[in-house]
Amino acid sequence: MNVFINKDIPEAGISLLRKKGINLTINPTENVLSRNEFIKICQENDVLLNVGANNLDEDFFQQCSNLKGIALFSVGFDAVKIASANSRKIPVGNTPDVLNRATSDIAFLLMQNVARKAFFNHKKIINGDWNTFNALENLGQELYGKTLGIFGLGRIGFEMARKCKVAFEMNIIYHNRSHNENAEKELNAQYVDFETLLSESDVLSIHSNYTTENNELFNKDTFAKMKRNAIFINTARGKFHNENDLFQALTNDIIWGAGLDVTNPEPMKQDNPLLSLPNCCVLPHIGSATFEARNAMAVCAAQNVIALFEDKKMPFCVNE
Ligand code: DGY
Repeated sequence: MNVFINKDIPEAGISLLRKKGINLTINPTENVLSRNEFIKICQENDVLLNVGANNLDEDFFQQCSNLKGIALFSVGFDAVKIASANSRKIPVGNTPDVLNRATSDIAFLLMQNVARKAFFNHKKIINGDWNTFNALENLGQELYGKTLGIFGLGRIGFEMARKCKVAFEMNIIYHNRSHNENAEKELNAQYVDFETLLSESDVLSIHSNYTTENNELFNKDTFAKMKRNAIFINTARGKFHNENDLFQALTNDIIWGAGLDVTNPEPMKQDNPLLSLPNCCVLPHIGSATFEARNAMAVCAAQNVIALFEDKKMPFCVNE
């Protein structure tokens, strides 16, 4: 079986694949492939181990119907047209659970960072703006006992809620497709409708899978319904928010601040106006970027490939 890995992944996954005698074609990261080159190599292989947000749409599946499976190096599978994979019976695997801690750590870090303006103040020192102590300057807000609203309380959302509960005794409210009984029992989380999530959250953090139904769900109208002290956190997908509306909400004191690990598009341009704001902190999609999480993701992806090699069901399959 021939496997194409479009960008290098940690050795933990590569060695598992090699031990099985699987033939690998690894594209070195520095080599950015055009869409045509990418498709051509997929046509020459049996399995794609996909790193990054390549658009695996109907056109891709039409051209690459030879594939026996796709192992994603991500938990999110929004870049894959699952209906197109299904109609060709191509299993698609992901890497769930292993990045729950790392990704929720980034949501937690952004929340605190924005609440206390940490990154902004760091930039002030770099710019030579550290002046003498001023009792009225650099004031942030404390999070103790505040309300955390989670949009999409799955495994990453649960981990974020747990940290906020333990660290700051925050009240947890959430909006989801269904009730999360575990979170209700263990964290006393309360299910609320979307409008209540908007109006009651001091911190609103997105942890949902992205679907087109939720495209720019966080926009002018929804920001206007949030509290003035609210902190908006997005570590899920950039398409959840409308960037211009977020900029307006941040500059017109509609909400307090925002922490983003995801943008639309990615990478964000250096001259993006959000980067100049004192109340916005942006990170370059590093939610899962820990040695622990990335090694474990490599192992999950390799296990998915090995299952295909052994003619078994992928252990982490999103469409079977
Ligand atoms: C994921 O695993 O979905 C992360 O966002 C990286 O793409």
